[in-house]
Amino acid sequence: MRSPSPQLPARIADEFAARLVHWQRTHGRSHLPWQHTRDPYRVWLSEIMLQQTQVSTVLGYYARFLERFPSVAELAAAELDEVLGLWSGLGYYSRARNLHRCARQVVEVHGGAFPGTAELLASLPGIGPSTAAAIASFCFGERAAILDGNVKRVLTRVLGFGSDLAQTAHARELLACAQALVPAQAGDMPAYTQGLMDLGATVCTQRKPQCLLCPMQSLCMALQEGEPERYPVKSRRLKRSSQRLWLLWAVRGDGAVWLERRPEQGIWGGLYCLPVFEDEPALAQRLAPRQRSKAQVLEPFLHVLTHRDLHLHPVRLAWSAAGPAGAQGAWFGRADWPGLGLPAPIRKLLEAASVA
Ligand code: ADE
Repeated sequence: MRSPSPQLPARIADEFAARLVHWQRTHGRSHLPWQHTRDPYRVWLSEIMLQQTQVSTVLGYYARFLERFPSVAELAAAELDEVLGLWSGLGYYSRARNLHRCARQVVEVHGGAFPGTAELLASLPGIGPSTAAAIASFCFGERAAILDGNVKRVLTRVLGFGSDLAQTAHARELLACAQALVPAQAGDMPAYTQGLMDLGATVCTQRKPQCLLCPMQSLCMALQEGEPERYPVKSRRLKRSSQRLWLLWAVRGDGAVWLERRPEQGIWGGLYCLPVFEDEPALAQRLAPRQRSKAQVLEPFLHVLTHRDLHLHPVRLAWSAAGPAGAQGAWFGRADWPGLGLPAPIRKLLEAASVA
C-alpha cells in the first residue's frame, strides 16, 4: 500500500492505476497509427503533432511525414523549408522548427538514437517534461508521469483537487500526485499513459463529461460533490487579443504571387507569406504613387487563432516582373504553393482566388 498524502486518498492511490490500465485495454483507443510501436522516432513525431491538435487532424500529416521522412536521419538531412511545407496547416509552427532542430541534435549529439530516459529526452528542443514522459513510458516503459491539460483535468476531478493550479506550489503538488499514481509494473506504463489520454479525450471531457462511462466513477471526488466541471481550478486565464494585419498581394501577369519569408520570431515565423504590414499607410509606402490608385482593397476576413483573432486585410494589385522594390522575396507560381510552408489563411486566400 502507498502512503496517502492529504490530496491522495488511500483508496485512489491503490486502485487508480489498475482500473485505468484495465479500462484502456478493454475500452481505450487501440487503432491509432502511432500505437503498437516502440520506435521513439514515430512516437516522438506523433506526440509533437498531437500537442494542441486533434487526432483527426494529425492522421494525414503523420502519414505524409513518415512517408517522406521514414527515419530521424532523413528528417535531419532535410531543409527546414521542406519540413515547414509539410507542416503547413497544422499551426504552431515553432513545433516544426523545433522538430527539425531536435532531429539534427539526435543525429549529431546522440548518434541517431533518441536517448532512453525522460530526463534526457526533456533536454532536446521542443520536448517538454510531459512529452518526454509520454515518449519514455510508451517506448521504454519508464514510470514517468505525463501531465498535460487533459490529464490535469482527469486528476483534479478524481482527486477533488481544488487548489488553484495558477500557483506553482499547487501545480507541483498535482505533479507529485501524478507521479505517485503511476503503476508499479513497467509493463503497464504504455496502457496507463494511453489510458490517461483516452479518458481525458473521450470521457472526462471539459464540458459534459460522460461520468456514467468512467472507470473512476466510484472513486471520483468531483462526481461525489456533484459538479465535475468545476475542475480544474485555474485563476489566470489568458485573455483573447485581436490584431489587424494588412497583406500586400502582388500578382504577376502569369498568376505568380510575391512571397517573403517571415522572420523566425513572431507570427508565422519562418513561413512564406504575402508581405505583412501593421496598417494601411505602411503598406501604401511600399507602392509607387500610381500603384496606390490601382490597388484593390479587398473585404477583410477573420482568422481565429487559439488566443488571438486575426483580421486580415488583403490589398491586391497587378505587378510588373521586377516585384516589390527592396523586398526580400520571390515570385511563386501556383505549382510551387503546395510544397511551401504557407500560413493556413494565406494558402486559402491564394487557392480560392486561383480557382475563381
Ligand atoms: N494526445 C497526445 N498524445 C496522444 C496519443 N498518444 N494518442 C492520442 N492522443 C494523444
